[in-house]
Amino acid sequence: MDQRIVIVGFMGSGKTTVAKALATRLGCGLADLDAIVSAQQNMSVPELINEQGEVSFRDAETAALQVVLDRQAPRIIALGGGAWTLERNRELINKHGCLTVWLDAPYDLCWQRITNHPTPRPLALDEEKARELYRARHSSYALANFCIEVTDKMSPDDVSARITAAIERRVSSH
Ligand code: S3P
Repeated sequence: MDQRIVIVGFMGSGKTTVAKALATRLGCGLADLDAIVSAQQNMSVPELINEQGEVSFRDAETAALQVVLDRQAPRIIALGGGAWTLERNRELINKHGCLTVWLDAPYDLCWQRITNHPTPRPLALDEEKARELYRARHSSYALANFCIEVTDKMSPDDVSARITAAIERRVSSH
């Protein structure tokens, strides 16, 4: 069980916090794609989207993903919510032999976390738009290797335990 693990899912599904818990559990490194894009561009992700537009942000996101994947470490990679929905990014991730894990959280939980979180999400400014995006992205997220259902009762560590258990089950059944 030494493949890299890429965490995908909607905004507010808990990707960053679960990725941290998973990295701690497995004793390995962690990369957060939004943080890398932001450091490379010298601007926060919301600023980038608002000032340069989503297309420009997506280009920077794919370029950062390519750089992260070309390195052999860190082992855990948390994506921003839209990255896995682009085919070119899925191809890159699959080509690099990573395992992909979808954090499947109910819409209401995602929306509650989006509204409570200090980081603005320019692509989820109102409830209806966010719900529409959530629905539209469902089929892309379902292309991940693993689907982990997340509820508001589960801590990031609970979710990370389920991820390792699911991966171990698959490894031992092969
Ligand atoms: C986005 C999700 C955000 C960030 C950007 C766009 C999206 O990341 O990449 O605002 O398209 O879903 P989080 O999923 O970490 O909020």
